Amino acid sequence: MTPSVLNYAHGGCSDDATQNGNGAAFSHSSIMPRMMVNYCKYEVSIELFGLRSPSQLITVPVGVTGLCIQNGHGDLAAVRVSVLTQVALVASTLSNDPLETMAQTLGDKPGFFQLYTARTRR
Ligand SMILES: Cc1cc2nc3c(=O)[nH]c(=O)nc-3n(C[C@H](O)[C@H](O)[C@H](O)COP(=O)(O)O)c2cc1C
Repeated sequence: MTPSVLNYAHGGCSDDATQNGNGAAFSHSSIMPRMMVNYCKYEVSIELFGLRSPSQLITVPVGVTGLCIQNGHGDLAAVRVSVLTQVALVASTLSNDPLETMAQTLGDKPGFFQLYTARTRR
C-alpha cells in the first residue's frame, strides 16, 4: 500500500477517540465456552432486509478495500471471502471494482450496498 492508503486504512478519525474506545470496549468482553452442548441444533441464520443470511455477522463497508491488495481488486477479493465464509458483504460507495462484477461474483449470496448521497451529481 502507498503510505497515504495505509494511513487512511490504519488510522481513526481526528484523535482516534472512537477507535480507542472500541478497542477498550472489546477488552471488557469475553467469550464463555459452553461444554457438552449439542451445537447441531443451533440456528444462527438471520433475515436481514428480506434476505436470508447464514451468519449473524456482516462486513462493514470499507472504501479503500480495493487498494489494499496489489492488483487493485481488493473489493473482488472481499466478495470471494464473503462467499467462502457466508458473512454477508456490504459494498462501499467507494468500491474500486464495478458493482456488476462484484454482484456476479457474489451470485445468490446476500450482499448490500452502502450509498453515500452526494450533494452534487458530478
Ligand atoms: C479504512 C476505513 C474505510 C471506511 N470506509 C467506509 C465507507 O466507504 N463507507 C462507510 O459507510 N463506512 C466506512 N467506514 C466505516 C466502517 O464501515 C465502520 O462503520 C466503522 O469502521 C466502525 O466500525 P468498527 O467500530 O467496527 O470499526 C470505513 C472505516 C475504515 C476504518
